[in-house]
Order: sequence, then structure tokens, then C-alpha cells
Amino acid sequence: MSNKEEKPDEKQSSWKDFIYNPRTGEFIGRTASSWALIFLFYLVFYGCLAGMFSLTMWVMLQTLDDYTPKYRDRVANPGLVIRPKSMDIGFNRTIPQQYDRYVKHLESFLQQYNDTVQEKNELCMVGEYFNQDDAAEKKVCQFKRSLLRQCSGLADTTFGYAEGQPCVLVKMNRVIGLKPRGDPYINCTAKRETPLQMQYFPAEGRFDKMYFPYYGKKAHPNYVQPLVAVKLLLTKQDYNSELTIECKVEGSDLRNNDERDKFLGRVTFRVNVSE
Ligand SMILES: *[C@@H]1O[C@H](CO)[C@@H](O)[C@H](O)[C@H]1NC(C)=O
Ligand SMILES: *[C@@H]1O[C@H](CO)[C@@H](O)[C@H](O)[C@H]1NC(C)=O
Ligand SMILES: *[C@@H]1O[C@H](CO)[C@@H](O)[C@H](O)[C@H]1NC(C)=O
Repeated sequence: MSNKEEKPDEKQSSWKDFIYNPRTGEFIGRTASSWALIFLFYLVFYGCLAGMFSLTMWVMLQTLDDYTPKYRDRVANPGLVIRPKSMDIGFNRTIPQQYDRYVKHLESFLQQYNDTVQEKNELCMVGEYFNQDDAAEKKVCQFKRSLLRQCSGLADTTFGYAEGQPCVLVKMNRVIGLKPRGDPYINCTAKRETPLQMQYFPAEGRFDKMYFPYYGKKAHPNYVQPLVAVKLLLTKQDYNSELTIECKVEGSDLRNNDERDKFLGRVTFRVNVSE
């Protein structure tokens, strides 16, 4: 131990020899040609790995279809969502600033349903599925916002928020190829003893069959989902308290009572209007 410490030169020179040994021409224990071979080996090795990865990726992408998802649920069941996008709708009806964002949201959401925009779309047969499996460019059935009457934002530009009887739009999420059997409609109920009066647009809250099936984003551009507007006919006794409203799709084979998924075929939100 002490011996070595006395000869630091020798230790250093053996280190130097290890890095580069001028006598044998070795660099870190190997000759240049040996290093070149190792380098070449790894180059080929990783090149092959990258090649195999790209090849499998390419083969897999070939099996995918641009138009429909490859994997999806065996039974396609849509979720329900509401507009305005809020699970807690609360405002003082005498203070416009408090409901402005709901009104703005509804107004911008309904732009794509403008009558002028929708007039470019097809007038479809009421009550019939609009099958167009063979068509290259799928057509879209008209859904004009004027169908939503008092909830269209046309005559009443505040969607009932100023009068304290707000509208909420209910829509089903898009599911490619979905053809609901029966006559799906939206039924909303207030979770309390006494029922709450509501108005539905279009009549009876129906989703017409003509809006199904949907063929996917790429095949079916400009597709618009059918909507159901629900106007909550709140009265003086309903103000200043929180109401829980549940809307469900009924009258069809669409599921609305899944234990685990609270949004499958139904949606729950709270409303609190003050004056
Ligand atoms: C929709 O209609 C409203 C008024 O009816 C208009 O202000 C708005 O610009 C229209 N939007 C589109 C996208 O056509
Ligand atoms: C809506 O749901 C309520 C509660 O489940 C039920 O009593 C009522 O009959 C339903 N209305 C319609 C039109 O199905
Ligand atoms: C709602 O606004 C009005 C007018 O500003 C006010 O008098 C009333 O107290 C407000 N209601 C609540 C519950 O805050």
C-alpha cells in the first residue's frame, strides 16, 4: 500500500498506457480495427432493430381504416352531455353578468345549427334511418336551430335565462354506426317530491332516426348531432334553492342505467336560480 503511494509516476503511466498504448497501438485495451469492428457490429445491430420496428409499425398501420375505428365497444352506447357545459348552473336572473357566459356558450354552440348553414344540408325522411353505406361522400340531415323554438336563442336571445326559465340543450355523444331501436326521447325529472314543469323542443324531446347512423369524422364531415332543448319552467317557489335535474334517454334500446357509468344515456346537473 505504502509502496504504491511512493511511486505515483508508475501508476500514472500505466493509466496512460491503458488509454493509449503507443507500443501496441491499443486504445482502451483494443486496437483500432477491433474498435471499428465493434462499432460496425452495433451499427448493423441497431439498424436491424430500427428496421424491424418500422416494418411492424408500417404493417400495423396498413390494417387500420381511416374511416372507422378498428377497436370499439361491442355494444355502442352513447353518453349524454348538456350545453351550457356546466354541471352547476347558478345565476341571479336580474344580473345579466351572472348568466352571460351561459348565453354566450349556447349562442356559439348553435352557430353550426344556424338555419342558413343547415339549409345546405339534406331534408331527410322523418322517422327513417338515413342509410348511406354505399355513398362515398355522406350527406348530412338538416337540424335547424329554429326547431328549438323558445330555446333557439332567436326570438328570446337570452334562452330564457333573463326570465328565470333557462334552457338546457341535451345531446348524445357521437357513436359511429349507431342505430337506436325504438324512438329515443329525452325525459328530464327534478329529484324532489313535486314534479317540475318542463318544455321540450322538438316536441316530446325526440331524437329523430334520420340523424342515424353517423359515419365518422372523415366520411361524414359537417355532420351535426340532433339536439333536444329542455326549458325549465321554474316558478317563484323554485328560486333560491338548488334543484337536481336528471335527464335520461328513454324509449329505445340505448342504455341509461349503468351502475358504473353515470353518463351512459343520462346526465345529472344542478340548477340554482335566484331573483
Ligand atoms: C348565425 O346566425 C346569426 C344570426 O341569426 C349570425 O349573427 C351569425 O353570424 C350566424 N353564424 C354563422 C356561422 O352563419
Ligand atoms: C319520465 O320519467 C319519470 C320518472 O322516471 C316518469 O314518471 C315519467 O312517466 C317519464 N315520462 C315519460 C314521458 O316517459
Ligand atoms: C339578485 O339580484 C337582485 C338585484 O341586484 C338583488 O336584489 C337580490 O338580492 C339578488 N338575489 C340574491 C339571492 O342574491
